[in-house]
Amino acid sequence: MNELSKVEGGTGVVSPDRVPVEAYISPDYVRLEKERLWPRVWQMACREEEIPHAGDFYTYDIADESISVVRKQDGSVAAYFNVCPHRGRRLTAGCGRMGKFHCKYHGWQWNLDGKPTEIVDRHDWGERLPDEDVTLSPVKVGLWGGWVFVNMDPDSESLEEFLGEAKTLLDPYEIEKMRYVWRKRIVMPCNWKTAQEAFMEGYHVQTTHRQLLAYQDDYTYSQAHGKHAKFGYAPTALFGLPSPRISDQSGDIRNGLYQFNKEIWDTLKATTTEEMLAAGRRLMELPESATPFEVYGAFAQFHREEAAKNNRPFPPITGEQLMAAATDWNIFPNMVFLQQPTNLLGYRSRPNGDNPDSCIFEVYVLERFAPGQEPKVEVEDGGDDWRTIDWGLILEQDFQNMEEVQKGMKSQVFHTARPNPVQEVEVSNFHRVYHDYVRVN
Ligand code: FES
Ligand SMILES: [Fe+2]
Repeated sequence: MNELSKVEGGTGVVSPDRVPVEAYISPDYVRLEKERLWPRVWQMACREEEIPHAGDFYTYDIADESISVVRKQDGSVAAYFNVCPHRGRRLTAGCGRMGKFHCKYHGWQWNLDGKPTEIVDRHDWGERLPDEDVTLSPVKVGLWGGWVFVNMDPDSESLEEFLGEAKTLLDPYEIEKMRYVWRKRIVMPCNWKTAQEAFMEGYHVQTTHRQLLAYQDDYTYSQAHGKHAKFGYAPTALFGLPSPRISDQSGDIRNGLYQFNKEIWDTLKATTTEEMLAAGRRLMELPESATPFEVYGAFAQFHREEAAKNNRPFPPITGEQLMAAATDWNIFPNMVFLQQPTNLLGYRSRPNGDNPDSCIFEVYVLERFAPGQEPKVEVEDGGDDWRTIDWGLILEQDFQNMEEVQKGMKSQVFHTARPNPVQEVEVSNFHRVYHDYVRVN
């Protein structure tokens, strides 16, 4: 009997509110992921803006594999397994621009279509080295939201099928038109799933980010959409008034909504923007008697106007579409983001070698920009100690949970996590899909 069947009564299905702990702490699961998850699933490699010109490449490392993503001469994007067919050297590292692939060991070369153009002393092989034998091995590529996705499985479903309803719900945001604002990277002392799950529910806000209860009803709902899932706030949840957990929700919602945006700006530098702050300041133009509905409508209108003043485009998204897409998504497996009409806060989490207690964790913000105003953004690397770079209060609060969760899960009395069936479906759905991929039959 494997670990899964022990905790699931032998059904092989992870029950929605019980997640077996082995997936977070066992080296067996690192191995299973390398065999069954990463080689078979669509995953985000980079953004298109990182490879704007022909010859631009980005090296995406995942577990033991490495994939070279490259912009071809015709403007399309291709990806190849990053390995020289001669004797196995990796061909690219990091990112940059190249006219052709070039192996630094014995000098073999390939064009951007992956076809060999130079094999030094090829005559030594006689007829025994046909082109098809030394062509770079392709990896499937799909584009969505400005991201380049790759899939090593030639028989996989299409990216569109994989994304399913998530694509339909999120397309109105025009994420493909957003560009990087800031990017940070660290090695975290926890499993890659532990790290990303810190951002896959809003249930922790009432304790981990308790200061935010002064400005919002923090109660959330969550919902699965195939392999992916989201959480959000009920249409009746009030932003700009204290949480019902701590008060009777009285107060000036005009000022409260501004203060909420200011607090988030000061302590996160994401999910709000300078224009949203300006919109918040203008709420005091409304009469004190304005209803929450009127305040939110005015805020949306002011936000559009402030964005227009700065020449920043605003997507043609409706209020219904905003509600339907909710707040936060896990795009299976390792992509999590919180999207807004003009900005997005994103996370990517990857295993770090074969150590189940370590991961590579990236955080980034995207925004819409006036044409030509997109900044050039470098990745700030915090090495293996997140305390060496500035994250703001909110992310620091999240990070403090991660290592403690990873340590806690190793206790002999902890066998399953118990995600909240209303507010943490993003977590439980992730594990349902995850175990479908890695299941031992
Ligand atoms: S290993 Fe690449 S040319 Fe020899
Ligand atoms: Fe958090």
